[in-house]
Order: sequence, then structure tokens, then C-alpha cells
Amino acid sequence: LIYTKTRFMQSAAKFTQCPQWDGVEIAFAGRSNAGKSSALNALTEQTKLARTSKTPGRTQLINFFQVDETPYRLVDLPGYGFAKVPKAIKIEWQKQLSTYLDKRECLRGLVLVMDIRHPMTEFDKTMVDWAHESNMPLHILLTKADKLKRGPASATMLQVRKAVANMGDLATVQMFSSLKNDGVKELRKHLTKWFMD
Ligand code: GTP
Ligand code: MG
Repeated sequence: LIYTKTRFMQSAAKFTQCPQWDGVEIAFAGRSNAGKSSALNALTEQTKLARTSKTPGRTQLINFFQVDETPYRLVDLPGYGFAKVPKAIKIEWQKQLSTYLDKRECLRGLVLVMDIRHPMTEFDKTMVDWAHESNMPLHILLTKADKLKRGPASATMLQVRKAVANMGDLATVQMFSSLKNDGVKELRKHLTKWFMD
């Protein structure tokens, strides 16, 4: 799979606007500002594929990207848990997110992106539980690993691995840095396995 040949297809503001799709999808979810869009850009070696920002809440739409000329798509989901968004809008996003996760039949895996300095927030745990309950393969990206020294970064990874150990093979955890392009190969390996399964 040539991830560098990924292109933007379309956006949806609501689940009901998600395109009909008989291919396979993998979604990137996570807290606002965790680094989802940056991870997608690192994965595809593109700088402007997914829009990134210092301001949390940048991605407000469900964005669909297609890998080359394949039936495989990557989805950039709006982040959750950003405090400065009005409550009504937050609730609406969470509703859309849970609908997407529950109803999207072509969804084959969830990449849960966490800032390695703030892993496993309450809402992250909700996402992990959801993946567990619905038997959805889960890959946790501990990103911004460049912000921690090797020791603390490894300690966090072990902690998170322990937290999802009850999911067995369904959940995997890796370190990542979009800044340093660290972990790209490992991420691609996981995605390809899910796509091809
Ligand atoms: P929302 O769309 O708001 O949900 O955010 P997001 O999860 O898509 O985060 P985004 O990729 O826009 O990144 C947020 C901020 O973190 C930006 O300022 C990025 O430059 C920075 N960032 C993302 N990944 C890394 C990383 O691996 N290392 C460092 N040092 N900074 C990063
Ligand atoms: Mg984003």
C-alpha cells in the first residue's frame, strides 16, 4: 500500500452525511490537540493533507482520505474533550462520534491517538471500552514522544499496555512522533494488516 499517495476525498459534518462506501475504513480518534491530523500527515508524508493547528478543536468535520487507488480509507475524526467549545456543541460532537463508531459498517479499526504526556484521559478510557465491547481492533498511538526522554516515554508505554492487556491481541500500543517521523513504519504495518484482513 502506497500511503504517500493518499488524497482527500470529502468531509461530513454529521454521521448521516458520511459517504456510502463499500470499501474499508480506519478511523483516527482522540482528544482534541492530541496530534491526530499530524499523525495522518506523517503517515502519508504530506504536510497539508489533514489540517493541523496549535488551537485545539481544529478538525470539526469527519474527513475522509483514500489511500491511492484502493478501497481503503483513513478517517480523521474531530477531537473530543476540548474545554473551550460550548457545551451544546461538545455534546453534539460526542453524539456524532458515537454514532459513527456504532453504525459505520465499513469501520475495521480504530487508531486512538494520545499525547504521551497525557495518556488515558476519561474519554480515552470510554473509547477503549467501546472498542473492547464492540470487538473493534484498537491501536493506540502515544504521540509527541519527542517531548519526553526515553525512560519516561517507555514507562508510559508499559503503563498503557498494562491498561489494555485485558483486550489481548485486539489492542496494541506504540510510541510515535510526527515531528521526528518516528513510528511511521510500525503504524503502516498495523493499518495494512487491518485493511487486508
Ligand atoms: P484537533 O483537530 O483539534 O482534534 O487536533 P489534532 O489531534 O488533529 O492535533 P494536531 O495534529 O492539529 O496537532 C496539535 C498540535 O500538536 C500542533 O501544534 C502540532 O504541531 C503539535 N504536534 C502534533 N504531533 C506532534 C508531535 O509528534 N510532536 C510535537 N512536538 N508536536 C506535535
Ligand atoms: Mg485534527
